[in-house]
Amino acid sequence: MSHPALAPGRVAVVTGGASGIGLAVCKRLAGRGMRVCLADVDAEKLVRAGEEVAELAAGGSDHVVTCAVDVSQRSDLERLQGEVLRTFGEVALLMNNAAAFRFGSAFRDREAWETTFAVNVMGVVHGLQVFVPKMLEQGTACLVINTGSKQGITNPPGIPNYNAAKAAVRSLTESLQHELRNIEGCQVAAHLLVPGWTTTGGREHHPSAWLPEQVADWMIAAVERGDFYILCPDGEVSPELDRKRVLWGAMDITQNRPALSRWHPDYKDEFETFEP
Ligand SMILES: NC(=O)c1ccc[n+]([C@@H]2O[C@H](COP(=O)([O-])OP(=O)(O)OC[C@H]3O[C@@H](n4cnc5c(N)ncnc54)[C@H](O)[C@@H]3O)[C@@H](O)[C@H]2O)c1
Repeated sequence: MSHPALAPGRVAVVTGGASGIGLAVCKRLAGRGMRVCLADVDAEKLVRAGEEVAELAAGGSDHVVTCAVDVSQRSDLERLQGEVLRTFGEVALLMNNAAAFRFGSAFRDREAWETTFAVNVMGVVHGLQVFVPKMLEQGTACLVINTGSKQGITNPPGIPNYNAAKAAVRSLTESLQHELRNIEGCQVAAHLLVPGWTTTGGREHHPSAWLPEQVADWMIAAVERGDFYILCPDGEVSPELDRKRVLWGAMDITQNRPALSRWHPDYKDEFETFEP
């Protein structure tokens, strides 16, 4: 059964829509007959991406809008909503997918922390605060999909600002879904997309990575099933390995182990033989 928010003619807004996973989702949704708005900070990439999506849309360029926005700026999201409503009259799906990525330390690199939180966390918060009240008012079936990361769940060492921001996205998406399902008659549902290793951003494709189109297909199938957590495997990480890593991380707390014990020399062997 197709989800009513993904029906032909309905409207999707995707941030970070000019590249990678966001663009692949826009293409798939346009291919299903939806009208699509691609929002991205990169105005140049947006033009090309909009043309690619229009080639697949039932109504061609009449069914596609592009909007240059920086999701860290709430006023940009308000402008985006105004443009989408003027052009298409509704919003059925909001995908908060834009993200920044900066290497850095847990106690240095102020710019990395500020940028990552402004885009990856406040960008999502702005999207929710601007769009969700309107979706509720519409009284139609609607979806919010926030893009998280396994790094926000299992917290591997190396990029603490990104991990912490994605952990916040997970937390806020869970709270959002709880809040929505407690509103009587609410037809808006939230989902957390957690991609695996995916080739994006013009990087060379490694055979063990997934392509963005695989993530888009996996996501749409999971939404149709009603899954809240949409964890994507990849060529290296199976659903079973994800399960083992997630459970091991949670058990750091319940077993009173050192932080990030998976990467602690005393626990390495135990993790290898751990069977959830
Ligand atoms: N690629 C992976 O392996 C992977 C894994 C887990 C999660 N993710 C998540 O998937 C999502 C999509 O990333 P991707 O891999 O497709 O990368 P990508 O670089 O191909 O796409 C990200 C897009 O976001 C846009 N963007 C960045 N800052 C923005 C801002 N301030 N406002 C608006 N747009 C902005 C970029 O211009 C770019 O077009 C991100 O949330 C990322 O964290 C990716």
